[in-house]
Amino acid sequence: MQPNEMLKFITGRHSPRAFAAQEISSAELEMVFEAARWAPSSYNSQPWRFMIGLRGSHVYKTILSSLSEWNQQWAQSAPVLVTTMITKYYEHNNAPYYHAHHDLGIAIGQLSMQALSQNLYLHHIGGFDPKMLAEKLNIPDKYEIVTVFALGYRGSDDRIPKDIAELTNSNQRTRKPLTEIMFIDQIPQ
Ligand SMILES: Cc1cc2nc3c(=O)[nH]c(=O)nc-3n(C[C@H](O)[C@H](O)[C@H](O)COP(=O)(O)O)c2cc1C
Repeated sequence: MQPNEMLKFITGRHSPRAFAAQEISSAELEMVFEAARWAPSSYNSQPWRFMIGLRGSHVYKTILSSLSEWNQQWAQSAPVLVTTMITKYYEHNNAPYYHAHHDLGIAIGQLSMQALSQNLYLHHIGGFDPKMLAEKLNIPDKYEIVTVFALGYRGSDDRIPKDIAELTNSNQRTRKPLTEIMFIDQIPQ
């Protein structure tokens, strides 16, 4: 891969709300999660865990039902819903794993770039009930649910309610300028 090709995946990434009905083959799905496997982590402890819900399955229905009503309206268009988790403690000494969220974030970042290279998109979701989801999915206490994400190919807007499609399309993808996030020598007080 040429260095400038990576940029294409970063600039081309966005969070759609309308997903195509097209299913993701198990080979494609495994490739996406393979990218997470290779992320760096504190002590190489690999705290990330993913519970995959394929459309029609009990897990999919459970994840969907844990989302806020608004999120449910569009997320139901995705063929795959994923619960992301971390291990709360290091395996080697059972100490609290303070950097687990950090490491999960890197893994998901890598995963989303790999997904895009396969024409697959993610939409992260924080608007859900993690307690209810942990109970219904029987998640052991050693794990903490962090987020949910929808995964799939991009679909046409008629797959989701009109107002949500309009809102999504009218959203300008803006970011803070570099001067607000990158400091050399001193940080503004
Ligand atoms: C942790 C997290 C939680 C999010 N929760 C929601 C959500 O509940 N509903 C939603 O529609 N979008 C959600 N988003 C998507 C963000 O709004 C979106 O990533 C942001 O506006 C930037 O847009 P972009 O991903 O297209 O660049 C979430 C994103 C992250 C990273």
